[in-house]
Amino acid sequence: MRRHGKGAQGPRAVALWLALAGSLGSGAGCRRAVTFDQADIDRHPMLAGAPPGFLLGVATSAHQIEGGHRNDWTEWEKGSYPDGTPHVKGGATTERAADSWNLWPKDVAAAATLGANVYRLGVEWSRLEPAEGQWDAGAAERYREMLQALRAVRPHPIEPMLNLWHFTLPPWIVARGGWEWDGAPAAFAAFASRAAAAFGDLVDWWCPLNEPNVYVTKSYMAGQWPPGVKDPKRAARALGNLLRAHARAAAALRASDRADADGDGRATRIGLAHNVIVFDPASGGPLDRLIARYSDRFYNHDIPDSIAAGRIKLSLPTVVSVDEAEPELAGSLDWLGLNYYTRRVVASRLFGDRGPTGAPYEVVEDPARPHNDLGWEIYPEGLYRMLVRFREYPWPLIVTESGVADRAGTVRPGFIRAHVYALDRARAEGVNVIGYMHWSLIDNFEWSHGYEGRFGLFTIDFAGDPTLERRPTPAVATFQDLARNLGLLPSR
Ligand code: FCB
Repeated sequence: MRRHGKGAQGPRAVALWLALAGSLGSGAGCRRAVTFDQADIDRHPMLAGAPPGFLLGVATSAHQIEGGHRNDWTEWEKGSYPDGTPHVKGGATTERAADSWNLWPKDVAAAATLGANVYRLGVEWSRLEPAEGQWDAGAAERYREMLQALRAVRPHPIEPMLNLWHFTLPPWIVARGGWEWDGAPAAFAAFASRAAAAFGDLVDWWCPLNEPNVYVTKSYMAGQWPPGVKDPKRAARALGNLLRAHARAAAALRASDRADADGDGRATRIGLAHNVIVFDPASGGPLDRLIARYSDRFYNHDIPDSIAAGRIKLSLPTVVSVDEAEPELAGSLDWLGLNYYTRRVVASRLFGDRGPTGAPYEVVEDPARPHNDLGWEIYPEGLYRMLVRFREYPWPLIVTESGVADRAGTVRPGFIRAHVYALDRARAEGVNVIGYMHWSLIDNFEWSHGYEGRFGLFTIDFAGDPTLERRPTPAVATFQDLARNLGLLPSR
């Protein structure tokens, strides 16, 4: 077990605690006692009673599967830290990745095998708009083929949910300062508008952005992703622009996509895929509770709160404080997506050494708990806790990502059952959850972990199999049970 050094002591700590303790209450940073019983999970009829039209599917992102990109990540993948360690584990690159740019029919076939009725996939900005204002019609046509193929799946179509940005930026945006460039939101909105014109007749479900909070934490606070910065002020600037970009893209999509692809009377359903982490304090001590509380507010709530209020309000005491009106944010969402993977049990490092990622806490691991191949705690109760908590917002919720790095493929079936149980429990308590998407359809490039994090329902032998065949893991059968329970596959 890793444990932090001594908690902060002395007058400074006491003063901070006294100043902030008033805001510590029930809820957020505090542990809500809930433990699932395995026998209940085993007995549970997964997704029974889910509402008609429940979205059951899988997710991927363009950069992680397509191969052949030219963006900020392909540059980053070639680089290393000053001590010589490569930015990406083993020096892996996305030169080919899962080659979905060419092998996409295999992906569509895999999703169809699962019985999925939705596939959240990405388009790559740097491919469609390689230079400012220059649109690659050939690339757009290739994406149209993919989208058409999804809609043509029978007996029921697979509804595409289209993600416009999932961490990567075209070089021409990077040259102007990436998300710190105040022109970036308008550039992104222009891209969204063109995407709506190109794909709107095939797409109703739009997800302009994936996980702005993960991006700024990794790229601007921990310095582990491009542009490799450790500066909370720059992080806040980038995050503010991401929120503006979301608002403007949503408006652009509504203005440009008037085509109702699935005939349900609505041409656009716009959301955000938002990463959530449960932060629990490592002890009952005030500083551990404080840091859990503030991490939770900043990481989990500042973004949805800003959208709901039409005001960008970001706050990490003593580090970041932003409060600016952005009226276009209000009304920009039709649904909120939660990407949930893990919890962090945190011990304050507010006054000690911040460690390599600059985080104001240390994660305290309990070796008795299950962890995935990347060392993330597996904690299905956290999905339930988050869904229940997020009912405070005015939007229907979709689990836009949930999954496990499990190279052996043995953990994933139970992982899916436990997380669907969590979702169903939240639904039983009245939380409006309208979909579940598993991350991921296929093994892919897991950012700085390279090909070490294996999240696919279908696995790929990147090193040994030049055909990159998508081979089913045991969890395919588990997913098919979900589809059967929803009537998406014939019952056995
Ligand atoms: C999420 C990302 C996704 C993938 C999974 C494991 O935070 O959205 O790209 O890396 O984690």
